Amino acid sequence: MQDHFQNKAKEWDKGDIQVQGAKKIADAIKENIQLTTEMEILDFGVGTGLLGFEIAKHVKQVYGVDTSSSMLKKLHEKNSPELNIETYAQDIIKEPLEKTFDGLVSSMTLHHVEDLKAFFETIYKNIDSGGFIAIADLESEDGTFHSDNTGVFHFGFDETILKEIILTCGFSHVKFKNINIINKPHGDFGIFLLTARK
Ligand SMILES: C[S@@+](CC[C@H](N)C(=O)[O-])C[C@H]1O[C@@H](n2cnc3c(N)ncnc32)[C@H](O)[C@@H]1O
Repeated sequence: MQDHFQNKAKEWDKGDIQVQGAKKIADAIKENIQLTTEMEILDFGVGTGLLGFEIAKHVKQVYGVDTSSSMLKKLHEKNSPELNIETYAQDIIKEPLEKTFDGLVSSMTLHHVEDLKAFFETIYKNIDSGGFIAIADLESEDGTFHSDNTGVFHFGFDETILKEIILTCGFSHVKFKNINIINKPHGDFGIFLLTARK
């Protein structure tokens, strides 16, 4: 499996944009979804666990899936008996998980997924009835958010188009909310939180 995050993994947790961005996403998820200590949650594109560990403080167990072994290695260094994330190193579209979850969270990973319909169809099967998805990513951008667009399949997302795909895959109560603006020297980039129910 190609690891586009091999070099980024080393410095990922030192980046202000990454750390502060994940914190804002965790806060927005906690404001919009009632998390309980009975819940098992899947973090899609868990990376080093910046979002996952915040969520793990409020639920029974977070499971994280990621295709980058370097990012997962960084995550494993942060696991402790008190607060830990169980991980799967696989592409769940090609190799689906057998398990189902009370909800799915995700931070800044959707733009790395080429086939959105296949993704939402896959995760629909991994969510229990009544469960939720809470996915944060970039609003439509001009392709300048990343300095290198390798592995980036979408320059952010148009709310109307994405909503249509999610509804087609069976989810309901689809809502979008702007939750952050990332200021870079060359421009401002909006971040949305999308929530939906199965
Ligand atoms: C921008 S990073 C975000 C990491 C973490 N969620 C955070 O906010 O710090 C995107 C992550 O998604 C992972 N990723 C990309 N495509 C993936 C896929 N198809 N399945 C699982 N993980 C994927 C990358 O390896 C990387 O760790």
